[in-house]
Amino acid sequence: MADTFKLELLDVTKEFPSKGKKVTALNNVTMQIPDHKFISIIGPSGCGKSTLFNIISGLDQPSFGQLVIDGEKVSGTSGLVGYMLQKDLLLPWRTILDNVILGMEIIGVPKKEAKAQAIPLLEKYGLKGFEHSYPSHLSGGMRQRAALLRTVLYNRDVILLDEPFGALDAQTRSNMQEWLLDLWDDFQKTILFITHDIDESIYLSDEVYIMTARPGTVKHRLKIDLPRPRKPNIITSKRFIELKDEALTLLSEEVFKSQKMELIQKAVQ
Ligand SMILES: Nc1ncnc2c1ncn2[C@@H]1O[C@H](COP(=O)(O)OP(=O)(O)OP(=O)(O)O)[C@@H](O)[C@H]1O
Ligand SMILES: [Mg+2]
Repeated sequence: MADTFKLELLDVTKEFPSKGKKVTALNNVTMQIPDHKFISIIGPSGCGKSTLFNIISGLDQPSFGQLVIDGEKVSGTSGLVGYMLQKDLLLPWRTILDNVILGMEIIGVPKKEAKAQAIPLLEKYGLKGFEHSYPSHLSGGMRQRAALLRTVLYNRDVILLDEPFGALDAQTRSNMQEWLLDLWDDFQKTILFITHDIDESIYLSDEVYIMTARPGTVKHRLKIDLPRPRKPNIITSKRFIELKDEALTLLSEEVFKSQKMELIQKAVQ
């Protein structure tokens, strides 16, 4: 039997108009993601990672190629996946509870039922006592947890997280990684996760896609064959260090190319 995938990007290319010309942000990206996997995507800044998520979420359409979810071609269809944008903000005028149920409200879950579902989860995931607080009264880590819970409660099989922990300090970030792995385990979702942190990508994932400099394409798919459950000290294991070395070598080639490109562009402007 042929392999089945939860989500497939088949030769996805994305062009944007820019100053009367075309800029290719993504070029022939192919990814085949099995169900229930944790997949990270790393690549130089500007290589098209967020663009890729915009396409998967249906906010944007590929210029060429296809997005397939559950075997169906769905390019340009929104509402099929949960998406936490790179700059996701909680609405400052809504309490944490009201923020967390926003996704459910959008899909038509009655407010009372949505709250009944959300309250035990706020307790379980460390936000007990803050249900009726406003986002400005919470720490950065708590706000990120609330935004993540909102994405999970939107109740889609696939969740896209665009650098969710980028702005957090190292200790909070490490706690959030544990928290996210628990959540992934509890909810059995397929997670696609963008990060600039190689350690984070390896620690969390089943596979790490390394993208090239713009136009972004898949440079390498690194299978993470570390046993689960993983504990933070796995980052000192021999295998972890080997994987990190491989990822770092591939990524730094691309970061170097991308910086060179930027300098050339500045010089000719
Ligand atoms: N709506 C748009 N119109 C024109 N160009 C765009 C648009 N969105 C993205 N781009 C361009 O596409 C390229 C990829 O951008 P994107 O935001 O996807 O990169 P990224 O990999 O997410 O970067 P970062 O790591 O900095 O978040 C960039 O050159 C960007 O300027
Ligand atoms: Mg981005």
